Amino acid sequence: MFENLKEQPADKILMLMQAYREDPREQKVDLGVGVYKDASGNTPIMRAIKTAEKRLWETETTKSYTGLAGDPGFSDAMVNLVLGDSVPRETVAAAATPGGTGAVRQAFDLIRSANPKARVFVSDPTWPNHLSILKHMGIEFVPYRYFDNETRSVDFTGMIADLHQVMPGDVVLLHGCCHNPTGANLNLSQWKAVIELLLEREAVPMIDIAYQGFGDGLDTDAEGVRLVAEKMPEVLIAASCSKNFGIYRERTGLLMAVSKDASRTKLNQQTLNYLNRQNFSFPPDHGARLVTMVLNDEELRADWAAELEEVRTSMLGLREQLASELQRLSGSDRFGFLAQHRGMFSRLGATPEQVETMRKDSGIYMVGDSRLNIAGLNKTTVPILAEAIIKAGI
Ligand code: LMR
Repeated sequence: MFENLKEQPADKILMLMQAYREDPREQKVDLGVGVYKDASGNTPIMRAIKTAEKRLWETETTKSYTGLAGDPGFSDAMVNLVLGDSVPRETVAAAATPGGTGAVRQAFDLIRSANPKARVFVSDPTWPNHLSILKHMGIEFVPYRYFDNETRSVDFTGMIADLHQVMPGDVVLLHGCCHNPTGANLNLSQWKAVIELLLEREAVPMIDIAYQGFGDGLDTDAEGVRLVAEKMPEVLIAASCSKNFGIYRERTGLLMAVSKDASRTKLNQQTLNYLNRQNFSFPPDHGARLVTMVLNDEELRADWAAELEEVRTSMLGLREQLASELQRLSGSDRFGFLAQHRGMFSRLGATPEQVETMRKDSGIYMVGDSRLNIAGLNKTTVPILAEAIIKAGI
């Protein structure tokens, strides 16, 4: 049997992580995988998470199974964090998943069972693993224009033109905020126009929100998702707690299926439970429990929100420093987009050769499509990156 296995394409982001680790140079900068790092290059455990973990250790009395959808308290807390009061709670079915990737995977599984003919429209570019999972599952996908390589902002005209090809029942995958890999995001009036078009085309939106709180703040980052949930008859939402709670390895995520028609929630919930059972049975609980404790305790929640805000503003500061350093070195405003983008990532707009040059000559690691993780920088490495960008002729 094993002789039939084929080598699978390596994941570019994870490959880069490995290459960085193996690079013996002291002067190297990791702008690859989407993990937050503080000024000294550490990925800290957030204060509130550490406190919750201690409390959990003291109070947890069993490690027996939870439910197939995880702890209902986790769903309630996360539905509230993502959706606020945009929709009645009884219209939302939700199930915990192993990370945001698990939620994405379960959403695709639901789509395939509900409508095997559905095509999934994906932004060009999108997180490469979206495409990889869709391919693996044999689901047809259609890219829609999203990023203008010249202005490094959203190509909204192209996006709307391409989304006119959506057929009833097709799914349109959108990034809730902090678009990965470009950093370019829809504004509220663009969200409204997309909603209008999807309503007209009878399409189903699916939103991947993995960076809530990293862009313009917890509530502002969720405005698009909330509007979609409020206006569309149905929506699937895959939320990740990896980044905004800093619990990457705990694998904590939630899939939500929202339906205007509350009478559907029971079946939607049963479907989510069933799909969990088929794929992994019970979702991981540890991270979900920490998130629930943090969100439900006034003090812990305030401390978490404050620390998240520090993370967000430190990334904004780095963006501004990088943009102004590049303005100084290049004598032009052509890198101003770096200060406009939001979230962890920006797409620089360099060629794969230029990316390779920066890696070889300056020890700078970014994904081949020139996505850079802003959080991988600090005040000292910003000028090094800026110089390398200019030297590579970008
Ligand atoms: C990223 O895009 O770097 C992160 O979402 C990590 C991953 O799993 O790829």
